[in-house]
Amino acid sequence: MRMYDCILAKKAGRELNREEIEYIVDGFTDGSITDYQMSAFLMAVCLKGMTGEETLALTMAMAKSGDMLDLSPIVGKKADKHSTGGVGDKTTLIVGPIVAALGVPVAKMSGRGLGHTGGTIDKLESFPGFVTELSEQDFFMQVNRIKLAVMSQTANLAPADKKIYALRDVTATVDSIPLIASSIMSKKLAAGADVIVLDVKAGSGAFMKTEEDAILLAKTMVEIGNGAGRKTCAVVTDMSQPLGYNVGNSLEVEEAIAALHGAGAQDLMDASFTLAAQMLVGAGRAGDLKEAYGLAQQAVADGSAFEKFCEFIRAQGGDDGYAKGTKKFPRAGIETKVRAERAGYVCRMQTEEIGMVSLLLGAGRQTKESKIDLSAGIIMRVKIGDYVEEGDVLATLYTNDPSGVEEAGRRMLAAVEISGETVEKMSHVLAVIHGGEG
Ligand code: URA
Repeated sequence: MRMYDCILAKKAGRELNREEIEYIVDGFTDGSITDYQMSAFLMAVCLKGMTGEETLALTMAMAKSGDMLDLSPIVGKKADKHSTGGVGDKTTLIVGPIVAALGVPVAKMSGRGLGHTGGTIDKLESFPGFVTELSEQDFFMQVNRIKLAVMSQTANLAPADKKIYALRDVTATVDSIPLIASSIMSKKLAAGADVIVLDVKAGSGAFMKTEEDAILLAKTMVEIGNGAGRKTCAVVTDMSQPLGYNVGNSLEVEEAIAALHGAGAQDLMDASFTLAAQMLVGAGRAGDLKEAYGLAQQAVADGSAFEKFCEFIRAQGGDDGYAKGTKKFPRAGIETKVRAERAGYVCRMQTEEIGMVSLLLGAGRQTKESKIDLSAGIIMRVKIGDYVEEGDVLATLYTNDPSGVEEAGRRMLAAVEISGETVEKMSHVLAVIHGGEG
């Protein structure tokens, strides 16, 4: 087999078979296929696309390029959730404890934030003492004991994806649905869960800017998951504004804790209950979504989800005193209020830009090596559709670094658009995609 012929075939729009795709992924991973050949192949995929079978073969080849976690030592059907990345997305911190409190094991590997999106591992590190590097043995034991553990992604999870992603990043080949879907799903399949619930974001703060593209990505990933024998569904949610109000690590943890007490923003509660319900049905804990949604609400109302959260923080070495009294979390020292320059209705937000403002304040990473300030970030004071008077606060910015404050304030103001016309509030959950749909 020759890489040249595979590139030629894809350039002509021909379907590759599993052997050819395995040859490409294995060869690129072991270095026998060069960066320039792989770049040409990736560009051909961007332009010509891939069939469902090709995408599944690509995903499996990438998943098998490293460790495939065997979760069989954990009793019961293991459920996992994954978000395609957004601004202010703290749902894992809420959904994990709800589902675990209802007896479904959640064994989750998570990543760190990069660019305008945050990562669950960074958020959890807001708790002093919290350990995210667990051995497989400790990870399994903790899930068996308390039904919930979150560890950082092991270095050898889908190494082919890591290498391919680095190349896509510099060759303008990121925005291809088969490449995004296979990249995400290779890591999910390698992480071993039986039930996978995907939260696919759509809007100005997401990879997929339109609902149509998000639905297409969701369908592709659901098809891959089910094709690989995992029970997979996707919830498409709105990312045309930050989820909830807080953006930034410990600020998001505080908001997640409020949500676990039932006092979260409407969109955050909707997203969390919907994702939890899908996981509960997928794992067989509830017969239908209505029952599952009710169980999730009950776990918040009776305090069992918050109790589970505290147990989880303690189990991984964290100080749960911070969860019980969130005033203990340090706030960054410089506080700046961004105020509306005119009266009207908040009609649009440039959500990716809001993520970039939080990065400027110190809450996010420019590169994988950047240090972050866990106490920095933004508290939004408005949602799309809200009416504001001139001078009302749109957002409060928190940072310890005076150098970026002026720019952050200016960019934040420009990211929240105000109009004279009334604006309808939209529902947060846009679509739910199950297997077998066209
Ligand atoms: N997240 C991933 O892991 N991969 C992509 O290609 C895009 C988002």
